[in-house]
Amino acid sequence: MTEKLWGGRFDAPTDKFVEAFNASIDVDARMYAEDIAGSKAHARMLCAQGILSQQDMNAIIRGLDDILGEIESGEFEFTIAQEDVHMNIESRLTELIGDAGKRLHTARSRNDQVATDTRLYLRRRCDDLLARLHQLQQVLVDLAEQHNATIMPGFTHLQTAQPVTFGHHLLAYVEMFARDAGRFVDARRRMNQSPLGSAALAGTTFNIDRQMTAAALGFDAPTANSLDAVSDRDFIMELLAAASICAVHLSRFSEELILWMSAQFGFIELPDAFCTGSSIMPQKKNPDMPELVRGKSGRIIGGLMAMLTTVKGLPLAYNKDMQEDKGAIFDAFDNLDGSLRIFTEMLPGMQVNVDVMHRAAASGYATATDLADALVRAGVPFRDAHAIVGKSVNHCIRAGIELHEMDAAACAEIDPRLTREMVAALSVEACVAARDHIGGTAPKQVLQQVAAWRQRFAARDAAAEEMDDA
Ligand code: ARG
Repeated sequence: MTEKLWGGRFDAPTDKFVEAFNASIDVDARMYAEDIAGSKAHARMLCAQGILSQQDMNAIIRGLDDILGEIESGEFEFTIAQEDVHMNIESRLTELIGDAGKRLHTARSRNDQVATDTRLYLRRRCDDLLARLHQLQQVLVDLAEQHNATIMPGFTHLQTAQPVTFGHHLLAYVEMFARDAGRFVDARRRMNQSPLGSAALAGTTFNIDRQMTAAALGFDAPTANSLDAVSDRDFIMELLAAASICAVHLSRFSEELILWMSAQFGFIELPDAFCTGSSIMPQKKNPDMPELVRGKSGRIIGGLMAMLTTVKGLPLAYNKDMQEDKGAIFDAFDNLDGSLRIFTEMLPGMQVNVDVMHRAAASGYATATDLADALVRAGVPFRDAHAIVGKSVNHCIRAGIELHEMDAAACAEIDPRLTREMVAALSVEACVAARDHIGGTAPKQVLQQVAAWRQRFAARDAAAEEMDDA
């Protein structure tokens, strides 16, 4: 029987199935680097405060570094018997260095330890996700520049509405991903406080220096309330919410790509490397990657629901229920990371069928609003103009022609204020070019937005470099 670090109070060994059911090592082993960093900071602080001897501290640091080496070279054996990452590492430390290892847990609990490790780990993963979001934004801005004047139908209710530029459409996603990044930055800033020193729930009787450990681990400050610090999982809920919203954006984008790639739309074709075939229908090329990304949003949102529900009825402070937090957030982050990567690598290889898009925009009476605007400019009240163009569209549908093909007689018959010049001037190019204001779809505006985004990217890169230098 492996001895439990907490075994003193017990007479009988843990039930075998309970041991496995209780263990979290399969999920939390990935936080080993953060667990070791947290322990080193804690040991150095204990020594600086005279709670741990210099000799013990040195042994602990060396032992922890050795363990890091063992884990990274694949030699380390994580066991269910040692339950979680914290006890696996601590028991190995004691195996390596003896009594000094047993002193490490002075003035600490797994409750503040796990809260610290999780914040550190997610902080790093947050930065990875932000880098992914930035890369995807860059890909989209490049595509938007390329397609600043590519015209496609814009939709409302999935019915042809007005022509838009494809670049403008792509930049809509750049805006969404910028807000997503903002949510991660915001959550990251709020979670960057050190729970270490909160111990089990009430703090510790030792004269610890929480500022020292907070600074050593790159936290902005120690948390202000020990009960809150060990029971707070807001940061996980916030990150899951941010991940869910981002996944929803990717899911909407996926849905559009899937529609656009259908034979009925024919707007785009995704690269072979990101599609699969059918085992029975030889002609098929399926957009599996956007479909799967659309599907991933379900489990990411599921993680958010799981976490909200888990925390909802928990009294302060730590409860074992909270161990379920890591599975939810790790799965969400892994899948969001993969989804962002797929999009970033898939989109540059997308074939855009510019002619098909243009034809689709030019049919379906997408220029009708512009004809109404022309009537308004000639002094017709907008409601009247709307009715006149409605009648015109009705006429064209029956005649099987487009608005700009109406002759003078047809115009006059519908309304004397409607002229051949007005309908002749209609074109999808004119439609998009005319929407030339901040936020409009004109190619000129798209290019201005592209330039503005590039400036923001450059400022962001410069700021990141400065942080690295500091
Ligand atoms: N494995 C545990 C978790 O992930 C660590 C904290 C356990 N604390 C306790 N008092 N049982 O939540």
